[in-house]
Amino acid sequence: MTIRAAITGWGSSLPVGRVTNADLESRLDTTDAWIVERTGIRERRVAAQGETTASLGAAAGNAAIKQAALSPSDIDLLIVTTATPEQPMPETSAFVHDELGLRCGAFDVGAVCAGFTYALITGAALVSTGAHDHVLIVGSETYSRIVDPSDRSTAILFGDGAGAVVLSRSSADGPDGGPGVIAWDMGCDGSGAALLEVPAGGSRLPTSAETLAAGKHWMRMDGQEVFRRAVRCVVDSGKATLENAGMGPEDVDLFVPHQANTRIIEAAANRLGIPLDKTFSNLERYGNTSAASIPIALTEAAEEGRLHDGDLVLLSGFGAGMTWATVLLRWGAP
Ligand code: COA
Repeated sequence: MTIRAAITGWGSSLPVGRVTNADLESRLDTTDAWIVERTGIRERRVAAQGETTASLGAAAGNAAIKQAALSPSDIDLLIVTTATPEQPMPETSAFVHDELGLRCGAFDVGAVCAGFTYALITGAALVSTGAHDHVLIVGSETYSRIVDPSDRSTAILFGDGAGAVVLSRSSADGPDGGPGVIAWDMGCDGSGAALLEVPAGGSRLPTSAETLAAGKHWMRMDGQEVFRRAVRCVVDSGKATLENAGMGPEDVDLFVPHQANTRIIEAAANRLGIPLDKTFSNLERYGNTSAASIPIALTEAAEEGRLHDGDLVLLSGFGAGMTWATVLLRWGAP
């Protein structure tokens, strides 16, 4: 039997706190009209004090385990992906593991906004070897803790939240190959590392009074260049993934791209040849939740009845690094 990894559970956790464009207008030199036109975002969620990457991630993970009709003891492996970790050490997965009461291995995969698709590929590959039956993948972020509130070019974009999926062992033997991950593509161009970064707090520039005074612990970004590269890598990686599977854009039932900017999503969908009515977006309500955006979107798409058994779903992540990863899967339980 050829083993595939199918998504059998999904869930999300979003803080109740909201920051609307009107809230940003009142404290930054920006307008609702500018933000909506350039990004498509109208509001984003913000974690309350005490709400953290691990607490949001555990809530999303718990929802996904329940949706899969499993219990924590059924999970064989936990993979967490985040660019806003609970602490510098240990990995956020340790905290999520503890909160969920898991008894399996746990590690973090880091690829910033491409983190979810990177983690999904990692989990699917491990399920496909037969090593694990159920892998929980959690993307969780609290960007409000690393975004400079006075930087109008980033403060408008990012939001907090978490999403999770359970990947379960499935069989690829069947008329359409059965549900699960079919093909993927992943890449990185490390020469673009400085385009989107938190410069200080690591080995290269350890935390000091100077780094704090210079604001080097906030995220900084070259928005225009990130925009250009994002469109290019979503399109190239999407085409490569479809080609790997011997399929074309007309086969895709739902395209779920990383939610960064409506103009990136629309430009990429157009160039890939996927119509916008087959492209999912909830960006206007949450902004860019980085590694959490795709599992939050998948959860909403499932809840809205936009995912049916047998549907072909294309997931596309891209982010700082620069990193990108695309996954093609057939929706449905084994
Ligand atoms: N409100 C009003 N004006 C703003 C603004 C804001 N929030 N942010 C920037 N501006 C100004 C700029 O200062 C600039 O003014 P100038 O012409 O006087 O110099 C003007 O708007 C145009 O700036 P520009 O950077 O060219 O705008 P843009 O159309 O590229 O939009 C982003 C800026 C950040 C929205 C856009 O580049 C973007 O979304 N990039 C991708 C970012 C991303 O997705 N990152 C995560 C990837 S995972």
